[in-house]
Amino acid sequence: MSILKVRIYGDNVLRTKSKEVTKISKKIHTLVENMLQTLYAYNGVGLAAPQVGENLRIFIIDVSSAKEPRNPIVFINPKIIKKSGATNSHEGCLSFPDVYADVRRYKNVTVKALNMAGKPFILEAKDGELLAIAIQHEFDHLDGKLFIDHARNRFETDEKLIANKLNPIDMDYFLEEPELEEEISKQPINNEGENG
Ligand code: NI
Repeated sequence: MSILKVRIYGDNVLRTKSKEVTKISKKIHTLVENMLQTLYAYNGVGLAAPQVGENLRIFIIDVSSAKEPRNPIVFINPKIIKKSGATNSHEGCLSFPDVYADVRRYKNVTVKALNMAGKPFILEAKDGELLAIAIQHEFDHLDGKLFIDHARNRFETDEKLIANKLNPIDMDYFLEEPELEEEISKQPINNEGENG
């Protein structure tokens, strides 16, 4: 197993739509093992294949705390089949060192995916819990979307990006999401976040 190089914002691989996995081959097993090792090496919550340079529809999430046993979930060819509600999420991403932003997310999501054995499973995550946020964050990576595209304050986010020598938000990718924003703006701020 090896720790893979995490691609940083500005790398085209992060803006490329990923392809479905057609066979869970030995190569896929090795990639996932290396992604897990990379996730733990960086103390992340989630990691998507494009972040390690592979435009394949795979991501991994582990929301367990440092005190708990590791509990990785592997998602292959995921589809978000249900989403509802809205929540503010304070997020970072391993592809954006030291940048955190408040972003708009759905509160509840249901995802369908294949596990490493190629068996389909359905997972429901509710109430804006870390898992619900992480699923949306990682799923976005497979479509070339990034958390800053959902930023609630894009000027403040631009300042943070520039301060960290990263490109500002690209308006070709920015998502306005007025319905989510309207619902979130009525709520008290909750500071749960994810780092993936
Ligand atoms: Ni990320």
